[in-house]
Amino acid sequence: MSFTGADYDFTDKARGYRELARAVTALLAHERDWIANTANATALLHDALPDLNWVGVYVPTAARTGVRELIVGPFQGKPACVRIAMGRGVCGTAAERRETIVVPDVNAFDGHIACDTASRSEIVVPMLRTDRDDDAGLVGVLDLDSPRLARFDELDRAGLEHIAAIIVAASDWP
Ligand code: SME
Repeated sequence: MSFTGADYDFTDKARGYRELARAVTALLAHERDWIANTANATALLHDALPDLNWVGVYVPTAARTGVRELIVGPFQGKPACVRIAMGRGVCGTAAERRETIVVPDVNAFDGHIACDTASRSEIVVPMLRTDRDDDAGLVGVLDLDSPRLARFDELDRAGLEHIAAIIVAASDWP
């Protein structure tokens, strides 16, 4: 197991994600702060997964401010849009529906919010607590962007949903 991205080989994608999931578990094992854990997890994902230009989390502000929007959290990549309303863009849509959205071509997604013009495809995975089914159940979304069209497939969806669940379970949320 390694925390160095270059050690990962995604030729066999399912295997790559299994090894990456083990590394994320180990990386977060001794800390429960959500900022520290999403910072380290997104750094490892960005380093290990090929063909990405942005990896980060957006978290809901509602519990603290009463406003139903997402605010950017720890990420790797170019500076990003700070606030996204629930239901807007790929992130706000995935957060509202509480389901993963795979966008093969961001220019074909109505309402896509362009932060980095290099982005061509995107996947957004909701981060859901298993012990809450109310508003507090959604602790954030994990967003990955690629400069390559159709970069994300069903194996990416499965692998990233597993990793998002590991991050949620390993952390305390506001
Ligand atoms: N494209 C996202 C916005 C966030 S950036 O990609 C970092 C969206 O449409 O919600």
